[in-house]
Amino acid sequence: IPEIPVDSTGKTIPVIGFGTAEYPFGASFETLRDSLLHAIKLGYRHFDSAALYQSEQPLGEAIDDALGLGLIKSRDELFITSKLWCSDAHHDCVLPAIQKTLKNLKLEYIDLYLLHWPVSVKPGEYELPVKKKELLPIDIKSVWEAMEECQKLGLAKSIGVSNFSCKKLETLLATAKIPPAVNQVEMNPLWQQKKLREFCENKGIRITAYSPLGAKGTLWGTNWVLECEVLKQIAEATGKTIAQICIRWVYEQGVSVLVKSFNKDRMKENLDIFDWKLSPEDLEKISQIPQRKGFLGLEFISEEGPYKSLSELWDGEI
Ligand code: A2P
Repeated sequence: IPEIPVDSTGKTIPVIGFGTAEYPFGASFETLRDSLLHAIKLGYRHFDSAALYQSEQPLGEAIDDALGLGLIKSRDELFITSKLWCSDAHHDCVLPAIQKTLKNLKLEYIDLYLLHWPVSVKPGEYELPVKKKELLPIDIKSVWEAMEECQKLGLAKSIGVSNFSCKKLETLLATAKIPPAVNQVEMNPLWQQKKLREFCENKGIRITAYSPLGAKGTLWGTNWVLECEVLKQIAEATGKTIAQICIRWVYEQGVSVLVKSFNKDRMKENLDIFDWKLSPEDLEKISQIPQRKGFLGLEFISEEGPYKSLSELWDGEI
């Protein structure tokens, strides 16, 4: 799996990562651990976890097993991401949260630590949907200072954010001493993120794409991507699957992508995108697909909360 720079210091990120968000339907601990171990066997080296997903512990076990079996020689061969949940998005909660994450993963450091949403909720549970009456305004400056501390302490090699609009990135950049390396956002042929990608490119922020297939079957997912007629036609004409067309398309945009399947055939299929490419005609057809965001984040909108409308959450960018 090729790698691309994750920041300006020469660190790199494998272009395909393996997603672990099974919340809230939950594959069992064992299914998760065994799937992750199988993914390492297949050659996946980048794993995306989060405090919310409860996937850190099975990932930690899978890493141990992979080391024990000699599938990898050292932990350094892996790129591990985890995320700070909204209930820990308070200055004094950040350090204990990453320490807990590291303990769950049985690791000394993670490669990337992300602020999961530009949202704080009252300290306590890790849950989605969040309790609307517990939504609080996020103090981005002080939360980010604590994230910077995690990097300075060597607990995270890089730090970043997730689900940030251009406007929220601007606000963060205005006070950040360490700029975010990555903004992890929804991106697929139905939500191409042209404006955000351009903004991030100018600021030296890397995008990682989540839900490249539309995250069918999750709380935040839809079947719109896998049932898109344009994609179906391209897949039929090229002899590839719709999933491969989507993953290849993200890759061709120079963006790292997270894929998720606990089915062994599909786990393999999703890696099989490097020895062919989309034609200019197919790229043109994809660029014409009407845009429609799948995961709106309605869970974070509340009359009494800091974001009263979707336009406030996304700053009018959706
Ligand atoms: P499964 O685990 O049964 O393969 P996303 O990556 O956008 O979050 O989407 C994940 C969803 O897409 C999961 O429901 C997963 O189900 C399904 N999926 C993953 N890979 C493929 C594929 N190659 N073809 C069809 N569906 C897939």
